[in-house]
Amino acid sequence: MRTVSLLTTVLSASLASVKTQAPTPITDPASFVLPFIGTTNGGHVFPGATLPHGMVKVGMDTDSPGNQAGYDANSTFNATGFSQLHDTGTGGAISLSNFKLWAFSNCTSFEDCPTSLESRKALRKVLPDGSPDDFASPGYFSTNLSTGIRVELTSTRRTAIHRYTFPEGTVQPRMVVDITNDGPRTSTNPVMTLDPATARVVGGAQFAASFGPGRYTAFTCVDFAGEGFELGQPTEFGTWLGNFPVQGQTDINQLYFGFIDELGALFTFPPAPDGTLTVILARAGVSFISSEQACANAEEEIPDFDFNRVQTENRATWNELLGRVQVDTTNVSTETIQLFYSAIYRTHISPADYTGENPRWNSTEPYYDSYYCNWDTYRTLYSFMALHDPVTFSRIVRGMIDIQKHEGWLPECRGATVMQFIQGGSNGDPILGEFFVKFSDQAAALNVSADDLYTALLADAELQPPNWNLQGRQADAWKQFNYIPQDMFDAGGANTKQVSRTLEHAFGDFAISQVAKILGKTDDAAKYSQRANNSFNVWNPDVSVPGTPSVAGMMQPRFKNGTFNFTDPRHCSIHDPEMATCFLNAANRDGFYESSPIVYSQYVPHDTAQLLQLQGGKDSFVSRLDFIFNQSYFDVTDEPSMQIPFMYHYANLPGKSTQKSRQVIAESFNTSVNGLPGNDDSGAMASYTAFYLAGLYPLPATRQMLLSSPFFPSISFFNPLYNSTTTIKANGFEGNPADGTEGKVFVQNVTVNGELYKSNCFLDWDVFVSGSVVELALTDDPNVTCGSGDEALPPSLSTGGYS
Ligand SMILES: *[C@@H]1O[C@H](CO)[C@@H](O)[C@H](O)[C@H]1NC(C)=O
Ligand SMILES: *[C@@H]1O[C@H](CO)[C@@H](O)[C@H](O)[C@H]1NC(C)=O
Ligand SMILES: *[C@@H]1O[C@H](CO)[C@@H](O)[C@H](O)[C@H]1NC(C)=O
Ligand SMILES: *[C@@H]1O[C@H](CO)[C@@H](O)[C@H](O)[C@H]1NC(C)=O
Ligand SMILES: *[C@@H]1O[C@H](CO)[C@@H](O)[C@H](O)[C@H]1NC(C)=O
Ligand SMILES: *[C@@H]1O[C@H](CO)[C@@H](O)[C@H](O)[C@H]1NC(C)=O
Ligand SMILES: *[C@@H]1O[C@H](CO)[C@@H](O)[C@H](O)[C@H]1NC(C)=O
Ligand SMILES: *[C@@H]1O[C@H](CO)[C@@H](O)[C@H](O)[C@H]1NC(C)=O
Ligand SMILES: *[C@@H]1O[C@H](CO)[C@@H](O)[C@H](O)[C@H]1NC(C)=O
Ligand SMILES: *[C@@H]1O[C@H](CO)[C@@H](O)[C@H](O)[C@H]1NC(C)=O
Ligand SMILES: *[C@@H]1O[C@H](CO)[C@@H](O)[C@H](O)[C@H]1NC(C)=O
Ligand SMILES: *[C@@H]1O[C@H](CO)[C@@H](O)[C@H](O)[C@H]1NC(C)=O
Repeated sequence: MRTVSLLTTVLSASLASVKTQAPTPITDPASFVLPFIGTTNGGHVFPGATLPHGMVKVGMDTDSPGNQAGYDANSTFNATGFSQLHDTGTGGAISLSNFKLWAFSNCTSFEDCPTSLESRKALRKVLPDGSPDDFASPGYFSTNLSTGIRVELTSTRRTAIHRYTFPEGTVQPRMVVDITNDGPRTSTNPVMTLDPATARVVGGAQFAASFGPGRYTAFTCVDFAGEGFELGQPTEFGTWLGNFPVQGQTDINQLYFGFIDELGALFTFPPAPDGTLTVILARAGVSFISSEQACANAEEEIPDFDFNRVQTENRATWNELLGRVQVDTTNVSTETIQLFYSAIYRTHISPADYTGENPRWNSTEPYYDSYYCNWDTYRTLYSFMALHDPVTFSRIVRGMIDIQKHEGWLPECRGATVMQFIQGGSNGDPILGEFFVKFSDQAAALNVSADDLYTALLADAELQPPNWNLQGRQADAWKQFNYIPQDMFDAGGANTKQVSRTLEHAFGDFAISQVAKILGKTDDAAKYSQRANNSFNVWNPDVSVPGTPSVAGMMQPRFKNGTFNFTDPRHCSIHDPEMATCFLNAANRDGFYESSPIVYSQYVPHDTAQLLQLQGGKDSFVSRLDFIFNQSYFDVTDEPSMQIPFMYHYANLPGKSTQKSRQVIAESFNTSVNGLPGNDDSGAMASYTAFYLAGLYPLPATRQMLLSSPFFPSISFFNPLYNSTTTIKANGFEGNPADGTEGKVFVQNVTVNGELYKSNCFLDWDVFVSGSVVELALTDDPNVTCGSGDEALPPSLSTGGYS
């Protein structure tokens, strides 16, 4: 595949001189996807096999400390199993990683098989460069273990299929099914039976959610088949408890498992006929309802045990989705193309489609899970989806509305079917807002009820939940004070993150005002747009950065009586004298979540114009942004910093946004296993990368998108809902300068369908609805502007609002 894609690049480059030649469409974009980006040193990316938003995410688990998504690309860690469910890029404890399978080629006897997780684990084969002998591409994962066994994985939505190739000469191939060892090892109440004739294993257990107090139940159904030969009945079968396989037992109720939490099934199979390698397929269906349903899922989705068919169909699904975004690759490095398609790929791993698997209520609506968490993803992930996958977006929105209908509250950090802790806010609102502001005209056709959507938003905005730590906002305090006071202890949650929550709730109310406006609810629109202004209620003009009095005015914690407390603006930054972090922690009394007051003082995305005035006007605002970059207060690892590189747009200096956003890519993102700064956060960082490479930055819950130059001579988005394609052409593109600060990358002017556009700094969504040709005239002069007309600067609430 690699050879083919290089040839394509060379070919299209040689045709570039023929001006009218359209770029060759990329028909196999999956070949540019590198699933191992961010799979070690804390990236927590899942590199295994999944469909877009598939429930089953089958992958290798390792015994590394950072195995939140199971896997670690560092070859010093041992493989412990191949499990069926994962999340991607999350923090918290390890999530899911349930129902590991494992193979033995040479136990001295059935009873001597080292079945426990600790005893059975094995290193991978290590390649000469020190990396493990692992391979992954969309819908497929493979590894060669040091035991000589090769493992390959692929999947459908709710079923995995594994292929185990045993070393030549294996006479007693054996397969382990592990029912209890989820990632954090939290199982209780296991059940399991096996059928000695068919080797079918059915079972399940209860497990702990990874970022909250809840527990969930999951079930599996595992069957085996030979590839290229009839597997036949197992020659030995039994259960195992820890390191003790017990031959002949078929039900764990026959075991006394009070003190050991590891158990499962073990089989010995006949080998393939002489002269052929023994290849055993294991099909693992999963369900959150019952083991019967796990079996039904497996039988329906993979009736034929045809690994290659499943893999081919999985990849074709990815190619269709990724191929809706096309780029001209002339003068673009292969690494940039890989970075881009890998980022789009990781935008579509979570949330996961658990439709039909919701154990908590019956509904005909779609059910998506793994919102881990909306605080991370609302800024960029759904806006990217809006460009090329609006139908999936609509299904996720329907699922979120259905959750609110049945549980009372929109999801925030839901995982493994349970509510988990909120982070810095309650950020379902901007996601529903993003959907409705862009797709209100199509909502009915997509079966999204506008009334139910609005009801769900109002519940978040107005109703005090019994436990806001899990359910949403501290709504009563918000309504009474118009900020979240620091000295307000109510029963339903921890007394933390008040400034962050104030800023997020204000943005949430902005999103609601945008929806109200479309629905013609004029009073509500005014009310929520007024509440959007609450961001500025935690602005204390009298606080400045110690030693830098010119950086004056900060978001600060505020008491009920209206006076401010003080949190050092450097708090939780790399310059914090106390070296504090501000991660989720009930003892955290500083008011901020995962970023410094300096960063949060830039976060009023709906009214940057007003922020600019408060920060002393254009020059002072620009100096402050420069200070944030020059002094490394910009924190690329955390979401509140995401928009900062683009904020120069509001000072009419879009060339600086282009420089800063390109520098972020150059300095912090690459295609290696270490290629991510921090966690991928369920695709939040991925969608952010994809936007930066596309030369765009979204303003969720608006019909506007900030504009810079793409890393490609042209990029086009096919939107299947509108059946339209919008192409952004970077005229004069000469390549991407390595450090991002110079070169012919600045947008001098913009035309849409040949007409000069009102702004060089943003595009209206209408451009993407009708399917347009957007032409950017590039220059090497960074002193470009947004243009000279009244509408040239991007909108803000205080300067007339959003159309
Ligand atoms: C861009 O590609 C064209 C056509 O291959 C080539 O002539 C030109 O030198 C390239 N420009 C740069 C800056 O690499
Ligand atoms: C792999 O992990 C080991 C043990 O934690 C560590 O010493 C080593 O530096 C890591 N290797 C790489 C390439 O990160
Ligand atoms: C991997 O397992 C081997 C023994 O099989 C052990 O020596 C090694 O320490 C393990 N590695 C880790 C990171 O636990
Ligand atoms: C594993 O070994 C097989 C040959 O046995 C080889 O084809 C494959 O490329 C190797 N690596 C992976 C990751 O599968
Ligand atoms: C089984 O094979 C592995 C890998 O080749 C080897 O390390 C181990 O010693 C063997 N075990 C037995 C019991 O032969
Ligand atoms: C859903 O409906 C089925 C079939 O009527 C029933 O067995 C099950 O208990 C229901 N589940 C819930 C969570 O209400
Ligand atoms: C909307 O619901 C109708 C009736 O249930 C169904 O026929 C149609 O396929 C649904 N459309 C979408 C996009 O889900
Ligand atoms: C305001 O409340 C804070 C915290 O309860 C208290 O320390 C401060 O003295 C109060 N200030 C006034 C003016 O009441
Ligand atoms: C004021 O802020 C300090 C420092 O974060 C904190 O320790 C203290 O508890 C806060 N005061 C109140 C009343 O919340
Ligand atoms: C979508 O647009 C293409 C041309 O752009 C047209 O050929 C096709 O018929 C359209 N499909 C639908 C379903 O309207
Ligand atoms: C747009 O920019 C291009 C490239 O610098 C320039 O040639 C052209 O005159 C500009 N058009 C307008 C209308 O400013
Ligand atoms: C851009 O403006 C800066 C300062 O105003 C000036 O020093 C620089 O020469 C200008 N650059 C170009 C290419 O005109």
